[in-house]
Amino acid sequence: MTASIRVEGLVKRFGTTNVVNGLDLTVPTGKVLALLGSNGAGKTTTVRMLSTLLRPDAGHATINGYDLVKQAKQVRRSIGLTGQYASVDAEISGRDNLYLIGRLLNLSRGQAKARASDLLEQFALTDVASKQARHYSGGMRRRLDLAASLVGEPELIYLDEPTTGLDPQRRNDLWDVVRDRVTQGATVLLTTQYMEEAEALADLVVVMDKGRTIASGTPSELKTKVGGEVLRIRPERPADLVAVTRALQSARLRSPKVDAEQGMVTMPIHGEGELTMAVHVLAACGVPLKGIDTYVPDLDEVFLTLTNKPVENGDDGDVTMVMPRVEPALAPPPPPPGPRIPPPGRLPVGGWPQFPPQHGQFPPQHRPPHPPPRWR
Ligand SMILES: Nc1ncnc2c1ncn2[C@@H]1O[C@H](COP(=O)(O)OP(=O)(O)O)[C@@H](O)[C@H]1O
Ligand SMILES: [Mg+2]
Repeated sequence: MTASIRVEGLVKRFGTTNVVNGLDLTVPTGKVLALLGSNGAGKTTTVRMLSTLLRPDAGHATINGYDLVKQAKQVRRSIGLTGQYASVDAEISGRDNLYLIGRLLNLSRGQAKARASDLLEQFALTDVASKQARHYSGGMRRRLDLAASLVGEPELIYLDEPTTGLDPQRRNDLWDVVRDRVTQGATVLLTTQYMEEAEALADLVVVMDKGRTIASGTPSELKTKVGGEVLRIRPERPADLVAVTRALQSARLRSPKVDAEQGMVTMPIHGEGELTMAVHVLAACGVPLKGIDTYVPDLDEVFLTLTNKPVENGDDGDVTMVMPRVEPALAPPPPPPGPRIPPPGRLPVGGWPQFPPQHGQFPPQHRPPHPPPRWR
């Protein structure tokens, strides 16, 4: 495997604290690696070191085959960097910012002009292209900054929290630009606090906490590391939470957990048999259920499990972006498989619905959400 970035034992100390503390990192050429961590994890410090802006205190790194310290000039030439803070010249227009960078990178006048126009278009800045950048909103500056890092069409792109301060539409546009670059062969090192972003863009994710790697892998590997599918059972009456838990435990099902606040019991599923068993047990215990479904934890939860702390909102942009979490609606109670056992609880009018449920089979309050949950 050729790697655009190889990092071994990278250390950066500020005072007595190692804010990057022996970091190892390999970014294969042509791939996107997301460095995922909350505020203060050491992401920006890492990016600053890998772009030669900050000298490491220990460790070794090669960037595009160049030694980070001994061949700093070549390293700088071979990368495109978008810092966490907008670094455009506020006194000139967006178009002039990009044109100037093009000229600095030895593009001809015509090439620099054309490149500026393309990038302004890609980042939806054409309308404000002639305005001084100081009149731009935070999101516009951010986009201009990103565009600036792409003028030289670098083969290796560093994006330090590129979507902090962007609204969801602009964020999606940026994701498209990144994907486009990767299709054209670029390698990307991205830092983010957003699991959704890592999931959307990255081939590989390195979860960083206190300057160290605490987990790494593909997004799906990380998810399975922390646990596969989870069954959620929501009884109609909160008082039945304990009964549901006992019933599951009596069938030796592993570790059901009561979430009183959400009014549900959750249980990791370790194979098909357990789900079927759980459904049998629940039907037999006769507790009326409001909902039951399965879901795969998203990376937010993986992160929470790994670091024991929730994802913080970025506080670096003008606008803080909060990713909407879409909670899948709870599905109606499934009937017991095999011979139908009428539960002693409430029987739905017209008997148990078919399994899997058919469209229009449930009264509105029990109708499966669209798209329906993943039934087995
Ligand atoms: N120049 C500096 N001097 C002292 N401490 C710093 C400096 N830069 C960053 N830090 C500290 O290093 C830690 C990591 O910061 P940073 O790399 O910016 O994290 P992240 O980008 O993951 O939010 C933080 O605790 C921060 O306060
Ligand atoms: Mg940062």
